[in-house]
Amino acid sequence: MNYLDNAATTFPKPECVYTVSDSFYRSSGANAERGQSPLARQAAKMIADTRQKLATWLSAPTPEQVIFTPSATIALNYAILGTSLKYGDVVYVTPFEHNSVLRPVEHLRQTLSIIVREIPVQPGTYAVQFDRLKAQFRAEPPEMVIITQASNVCGFMPPVEEIVQLARKVNPDVTIIVDGAQVAGLYPLDLNDGLVDYYIFSGHKSLYGSYGASGFVLCTEKRPQPIIFGGTGTQSESLEMPNSLPSAYEAGSQNVWAIAGLSAALDWLKEQGREKIVKHCQSLTEMLVESLQKIPGVRMYLPSASQRISIVSFNLSGIAPQMLENALGTQAIAVRAGLHCAPWAHRWLGTLESGGTVRVSAGFFNTEEDIKALTKFLAGLK
Ligand code: ALA
Repeated sequence: MNYLDNAATTFPKPECVYTVSDSFYRSSGANAERGQSPLARQAAKMIADTRQKLATWLSAPTPEQVIFTPSATIALNYAILGTSLKYGDVVYVTPFEHNSVLRPVEHLRQTLSIIVREIPVQPGTYAVQFDRLKAQFRAEPPEMVIITQASNVCGFMPPVEEIVQLARKVNPDVTIIVDGAQVAGLYPLDLNDGLVDYYIFSGHKSLYGSYGASGFVLCTEKRPQPIIFGGTGTQSESLEMPNSLPSAYEAGSQNVWAIAGLSAALDWLKEQGREKIVKHCQSLTEMLVESLQKIPGVRMYLPSASQRISIVSFNLSGIAPQMLENALGTQAIAVRAGLHCAPWAHRWLGTLESGGTVRVSAGFFNTEEDIKALTKFLAGLK
């Protein structure tokens, strides 16, 4: 299998992720923070150690400010629904947000009559139209701004700092959410300078862990209302969620299996180093772009090299994206076609009505052979 769908989940995982998840779960898979048995303590310690490693890898202010959730979607729901927005508040989003942002925001639009505005980005050039944005922010000051750190459709990295600085000038108390699901830890962002309130990470994507250990970093003093309530193993006499971090947002049994795997993945990431991983994925992406450019009928949706991660979306004239995905599948080449749960990104690209794009995303375990297999097959179609 030539697996080129690392934007959906990195696959395979480093071998240590499989072995450590399995061995930890077999030897110490007790319920963390529930009881004081040696096994329960071991599980709790493993989680605390992983939180510490994650805080270091993501440059979070403190480990307690790193909250685990079962998925990045749930983390985003925490940040968006947990913030006490009011009737008429204005929420700005980029055109590149995933449905895990757009749907909770739409829910608030329908139930609370918040106003949703799009950050203007020039089609074709990928340039944020700051003059227009400044005027928009002045006319309708932002209460919340949500920015993806990298689009899961075309790999574009919006200029997060500049957008946030502009928003904070107009409203210093604006809630800033950065969705780092595609790149957390690989393309770092300063989480200590008061710019970002919530930073979302996905354990099974850029962190090379398994599903089930994602979350968010509470970077500033902002604290969302809990949206999930239940047992935490602490302050059990109270019917309210504890105030202390991370318990306030971690009701229910923790996914010891997934967190143990993430712990191993973080050791592996440290050993490799960000630069090596990013460089490898970028070099495969450049090779892919060069090869696709030579294939007649290919249209890529491509930000400049310095503005993109290792994701390339394209179409081949005359073949619907989904058909091409299926054809590639018959050759054991895995990509993802369609709208990628990000309809506004496709509207912005002009591909919403025509079934989206074919997305190719390289990861650390891909080789040049994977790219050659894909481009050879595409070249043969014409
Ligand atoms: N959000 C994931 C993707 O982009 C699943 O494919």
